[in-house]
Amino acid sequence: MKQLVDKLYETGNLSPEEYKELIDNRNPEIAEYLFEKARNVRIENYGYDVYIRGLIEFTNYCRNDCFYCGIRKSNIKAERYRLTKEQILECCDTGYELGFRTFVLQGGEDEYFTDDKIVDIIRSIKVRYPDCAVTLSIGERSYESYKAFFDAGADRYLLRHETADYGHYRKLHPRSLSFENRMQCLFNLKEIGYQVGCGFMVGSPFQTTDCLVEDLLFIKKLNPHMVGIGPFIPHHATPFADKQAGTLELTLFLLGIIRLMLPDVLLPATTALGTIHPKGREMGILAGANVVMPNLSPKSVRKKYMLYDNKICTGDEAAECISCMRRRMESIGYRITVSRGDHKSIQQ
Ligand code: SAM
Ligand code: FES
Repeated sequence: MKQLVDKLYETGNLSPEEYKELIDNRNPEIAEYLFEKARNVRIENYGYDVYIRGLIEFTNYCRNDCFYCGIRKSNIKAERYRLTKEQILECCDTGYELGFRTFVLQGGEDEYFTDDKIVDIIRSIKVRYPDCAVTLSIGERSYESYKAFFDAGADRYLLRHETADYGHYRKLHPRSLSFENRMQCLFNLKEIGYQVGCGFMVGSPFQTTDCLVEDLLFIKKLNPHMVGIGPFIPHHATPFADKQAGTLELTLFLLGIIRLMLPDVLLPATTALGTIHPKGREMGILAGANVVMPNLSPKSVRKKYMLYDNKICTGDEAAECISCMRRRMESIGYRITVSRGDHKSIQQ
């Protein structure tokens, strides 16, 4: 098994059979061997720096009905909210003061936010903070919309592919959503010139090792700048309420694999990872991750952006979140930096 880790370290690639063998036969000893290599690669590329992104969850309205998601449109108990442009800018003001130089605008697929409204928000942030990066995470839109956002100044786009296995995709989503379109969106975003992030949930219902192998092969093919992975966590008001959560252990193992596959990828230790284990994000960093995304949303709406049960940091002010994160990272020998934290290929 160590030979497989060595091969991945040296070449950045394994065959589908080898990925499967590595995942299915993993054990704590192999995991530690993998993490050590992943840390080395991460340190070679990004030192001990941890990049921060200020997450602004600006709407929890969504036209979609993903079976796993707490803000799906069929969840009539979800208390819906939208932030105004002024509120979003206030989040940026707070974030800038605290050292954030990337703002991530995330939301459900909310038709209220037309292309023109999104363009206006991006422009306003860029005028006020020209030294900051804007990342969008607002789901599937047309090529033209993505282009308009890019031309308005958006730098990055996060769109998790969710699963690269067609049959699995169908089990996670209603018929109204198309696997092909999701994939096409990712290639469109790349073509337009965004720094692009794909990703998936670990341990989502019906996921098999073969699905994970497909995910890894897809990631290698897309060659994204960012990969967001975190454990699936059930939400009580969804069709997957009774499904098992993904594990910390497998999520960490996959973070290590992805770091070796794409040595300079931007890899977050996600909030979901911090939700399934109190030290999940620290462990994620020690498995090869190099990004954290503290919440900048106003405290009044935090609890309403509930994608899964028991989501952490819903009761804190932004300042508390960042100082908590700073302490956490320092406790494992890493440091949060004040920078845009671009992908290495883009840094001057
Ligand atoms: N609407 C945008 C989109 O579709 O890309 C962004 C918002 S969506 C809520 C962000 C991500 O949350 C999804 O890509 C999904 O992977 C993750 N997510 C949703 N429900 C989850 C759950 N129950 N457990 C863990 N992650 C979840
Ligand atoms: Fe739309 Fe989750 S179903 S954000």
